[in-house]
Amino acid sequence: MQIQQNISLKPYNTFHIDVYAKYLVSFTTLEDLSQLTSLPISVNNTNKPLVLGGGSNILFTQHYDGLIIKNEMKGIELTAEDESCYYVKAAAGENWHLFVQHCIQNNYAGVENLSLIPGNVGASPMQNIGAYGVEIEDVFHELQAYHLADNEVVTFKKDDCKFGYRDSVFKGKFKNEFIITSVTFRLNKIPQFVTTYGSIMEEIEKMGLGELSIQAVSQAVINIRRSKLPDPAVIGNAGSFFKNPTVLLQQFQKLKDDFPSIVGYPLNSNSVKLAAGWLIEQCGWKGFRKGDAGCHEKQALVLVNYGNANGLDIYTLSAEIMHSVEAKFKVLLEREVNII
Ligand code: FAD
Ligand code: EPU
Repeated sequence: MQIQQNISLKPYNTFHIDVYAKYLVSFTTLEDLSQLTSLPISVNNTNKPLVLGGGSNILFTQHYDGLIIKNEMKGIELTAEDESCYYVKAAAGENWHLFVQHCIQNNYAGVENLSLIPGNVGASPMQNIGAYGVEIEDVFHELQAYHLADNEVVTFKKDDCKFGYRDSVFKGKFKNEFIITSVTFRLNKIPQFVTTYGSIMEEIEKMGLGELSIQAVSQAVINIRRSKLPDPAVIGNAGSFFKNPTVLLQQFQKLKDDFPSIVGYPLNSNSVKLAAGWLIEQCGWKGFRKGDAGCHEKQALVLVNYGNANGLDIYTLSAEIMHSVEAKFKVLLEREVNII
């Protein structure tokens, strides 16, 4: 295990923000992890260590005056199976999309709708990643995490994680306390296709494939994503910058009177989830650019760095967007991306 000092984080975050970390350490085994406490820099100092995966849901607004821990543990194994399911354990440092592809090749069904989400397996429970009608919690079995202060590995079952929309106990109560080391997924032997979201079926028909399969769903999701989301290798971004906000049915009805084309999905009899991308586009931000910070031209929910924007440029733009959405619709947006 090697500690690097004063290292640029530009290659380690998909916004490509050029800030420096005081210390960065990568580890590949649990034994490495237990040595963290004996490092000359304390892991319990005032600047709590920050665990970094693929850096695809993070915005650095300043240099990091502390320790960054990069989890590079690898390995995927089938740990058990029963009549209907496979239990597949993946180490936290595995790339998420490569894990999805591994599942598809082996006919483990359930994660195909989550194709092409950037980042690592270890971060997937953090915000209960979701796309095209499926969330991690739908296929989650358990995870193991290392508690930094107590120096011990703890198992979290599904209920312990308190999953919500883009939320979990690791984003809230236990923020920066645990390093997730592996996640075990419960995947179906017989696929239960989720094709109701957006244009998945339309895309599958367009592809001209005869039968519905997990491969076909995955490819349809990949095609749709590529058609509207910017590739972080080309334009810096962290996916949706804000969550889709929830409003009470009453407020939705009033908004609908004022803005008949507003996009919303009923969550239950009481509340409706609004499409934040629509709200932002209506405020005129889609395609907006100031310096190198901008709002993507095909997806207004995605803020982008065209090159040399810094974290504060992006953050300031996000604040301006929030103000204008609140002024026009009286709806508060909440940032989804982790701000450091
Ligand atoms: P990081 O950005 O490295 O970290 C995110 C947070 O998790 C940080 O707080 C970090 O401290 C913590 N963390 C990371 N690893 C660990 C660990 N092992 N233990 C404890 N804490 C950890 N998200 C979706 O949900 N759905 C989407 O459809 C989606 N589409 C995207 C599209 C694009 C183009 C991009 C750039 C991002 C998208 N995202 C999406 C967001 C992002 O890909 C996910 O949130 C992803 O899970 C982040 O993984 P990461 O490894 O990059 O995490
Ligand atoms: N829309 C607009 N203008 C825009 C963007 C969207 O009007 O610029 C409207 C469209 O009418 C569309 C609706 O918003 O019907 C929803 O758009 P889309 O299907 O692109 O999804 P989203 O709500 O913008 C969410 C997730 C994405 C996820 C997709 C697919 C959140 C915050 N975002 O985006 O997740 O991939 O659905 O399931 O929930 C991420 O979290 O980083 C992310 C990319």
